[in-house]
Amino acid sequence: MATPSIQLNDGTSIPWLAFGSGTALYSKDATKQITDAIKAGFRHIDAAQAYSNEETVGDGIVQSGVPRSELYITTKLGKVPDGKTVKDTLQESLKKLQTDYVDLFLIHTPVQHADLKSTWKELEELKAEGLTRSIGVSNFLPKHFNIILEGATVVPAVNQIEYHPYVFKASQPQIDLHKQHKIVATSYGGLTPITRFPGGPIDPALDRAAKRLAEASGKSVTQGQVLQLWLRKKDIPCITVTSKAERLREYLSVAELPDLTEEEEREIDESGSTAHHRVFVRASPVTSYLI
Ligand SMILES: NC(=O)c1ccc[n+]([C@@H]2O[C@H](COP(=O)([O-])OP(=O)(O)OC[C@H]3O[C@@H](n4cnc5c(N)ncnc54)[C@H](OP(=O)(O)O)[C@@H]3O)[C@@H](O)[C@H]2O)c1
Repeated sequence: MATPSIQLNDGTSIPWLAFGSGTALYSKDATKQITDAIKAGFRHIDAAQAYSNEETVGDGIVQSGVPRSELYITTKLGKVPDGKTVKDTLQESLKKLQTDYVDLFLIHTPVQHADLKSTWKELEELKAEGLTRSIGVSNFLPKHFNIILEGATVVPAVNQIEYHPYVFKASQPQIDLHKQHKIVATSYGGLTPITRFPGGPIDPALDRAAKRLAEASGKSVTQGQVLQLWLRKKDIPCITVTSKAERLREYLSVAELPDLTEEEEREIDESGSTAHHRVFVRASPVTSYLI
């Protein structure tokens, strides 16, 4: 069964499951992992200028042999070097990624741009020029949206954020704003509750859902797959990564599993709300405002 796609507010759609080239692959040669992920069935690749490996992501894409037209490629704007424009940086990214356009170009973090409004204007121009099909943001809080939305001709299609049950409650103001403007949240760090905080309050709910889904599907179902189904139930694309072939299959086979029930979703929401663990901001001074 094919991985589903989610509609964006600009008329395009985004594949629900993405393979990321940050975190585990940050600053590393990602060629083999990207080729393997695409060959296994991933069609959405998440890159960033800040990951310092866009060349190898491009090599991995080319070596997969899958036509560009069948892939969805995201990259993200880093800090713009003095004397350069946002367009200069995207053109460099396109050269490294060996493509004429990206599907989605995001502002990686608002605090790296002194004049956020004019940075957004530059992204709007890049969309008009066809260098990117969609534009969006990452790690934005409502106060950052308020800056760019006033006078915007394009509303961001996406806000890529850390999203899992242990930030479910804290993220509600962002999610409410997204709903108002038909902005899609996409999730990184979605497996945090099992990779970094195992044994927490959501584990009984994950186990109950995994057992019910295994009985319903006749397949074994992991806690990680339940977390990814929790994202899918909320129409939130999942950006993940792995170094292991068997985990690629585990992620891709979520497409064959039934949805969580409303009750299972609510149980994870409620038990997740009893704890707060945000991971990706601690290590980085540029995102420490998110805690
Ligand atoms: N916009 C931003 O600021 C931002 C920030 C962070 C990340 N991202 C993007 O999101 C992507 C994914 O980020 P993420 O690493 O946080 O994704 P994630 O889906 O939360 O975690 C994936 C990691 O979990 C491990 N894992 C999976 N199942 C496991 C299990 N059952 N037990 C133990 N370990 C398990 C995998 O390791 P194995 O190799 O062992 O499978 C992999 O390293 C990044 O590559 C990047 O593209 C964006």
